[in-house]
Amino acid sequence: PLVTLRTLLDHAAENDYGVAAFNVNNMEQIQSIMEAAAETDSPVIVQASRGARAYSQDNYLRHLMLAAAELYPQIPIVMHQDHGNSPETCMSAVENGFTSVMMDGSLKEDGKTPADFDYNVAVTKKVVELAHSKGVGVEGELGCLGSLESGTGEAEDGHGAVGELSHDQLLTDPDEAAEFVKLTNVDALAVAIGTSHGAYKFTKKPTGEVLAMDRIEAIHKKLPNTHLVMHGSSSVPQELQDIINQYGGEMKQTFGVPVEEIQRGIKSGVRKINVDTDNRMAITGAIRKVLQEKPAEFDPRAYMKPAREAMKQVCIARMTAFGQAGQA
Ligand code: G3H
Ligand code: 13P
Ligand code: NA
Ligand code: ZN
Repeated sequence: PLVTLRTLLDHAAENDYGVAAFNVNNMEQIQSIMEAAAETDSPVIVQASRGARAYSQDNYLRHLMLAAAELYPQIPIVMHQDHGNSPETCMSAVENGFTSVMMDGSLKEDGKTPADFDYNVAVTKKVVELAHSKGVGVEGELGCLGSLESGTGEAEDGHGAVGELSHDQLLTDPDEAAEFVKLTNVDALAVAIGTSHGAYKFTKKPTGEVLAMDRIEAIHKKLPNTHLVMHGSSSVPQELQDIINQYGGEMKQTFGVPVEEIQRGIKSGVRKINVDTDNRMAITGAIRKVLQEKPAEFDPRAYMKPAREAMKQVCIARMTAFGQAGQA
């Protein structure tokens, strides 16, 4: 059934595991996640960004998620709004069947400009009041995602902040985090520790200098009962980069967040781990392979089926590594 964020993450905390939150934009991605969940007996978080909702349309998305719940009655499913940029976006998600919303008040409504603490508290608190009255959970974010490697938050592909971000903005302050949770009453808190969205996170395997896992430990000490969220947590596996490039792609060498670092986070209160890029890469690699090997092919099922299977394998790997397997 569709369940709330709180239900799912409380269970994860009680049983010391993390839950991958996978982004979706279409039916096949939902099918990949649900097949992986059924095979590994995992509770799941399926999330849609604003862009995803616009691409897939809310009505399609709502009915696809209802179909997932109907087909897999044994699997607890959270349907989550990823990076809501305003109370309006979050409340329209609630009206469209989402059981969880992220109010990302770390950025202004444009989704780019860093916001100050008071703005963040005000919008997040408002969403918590509205969402909780409907039984929906809320994730907030304090600190801005962005690369500590570049020192300005900007990733190699230009992903990240529009303006320059200072070291302070790129790392969540533990005392501020405690204050933020007290003032807003969020169910889960996303923290900034040097990860960024997209494939180009690190130019080499990250050390503690650029991936501040010790911040998570410090925040968890101040907030032992708050569920922490890691964004930008794709691992960007070498083998997926290689498949894409082997079949005509042009991705530059890059490094993501190693799974073992995420496992370390799970020991310190990380309960939700956002993964989108790895699945995008798996899908793209599989499609490239079919189109290159069978250039006469034009039935979309010929490449969508391997694409769905490739994403399913990534989901199974993360579900197993994060410990959610066997917990449905
Ligand atoms: O927030 C980042 C997720 O990967 C979603 O990306 O906004 O392109 O749908 P998107
Ligand atoms: P990745 O780009 O690392 O997959 O991060 C996804 C994310 O944080 C979605 O909110
Ligand atoms: Na989110
Ligand atoms: Zn994110």
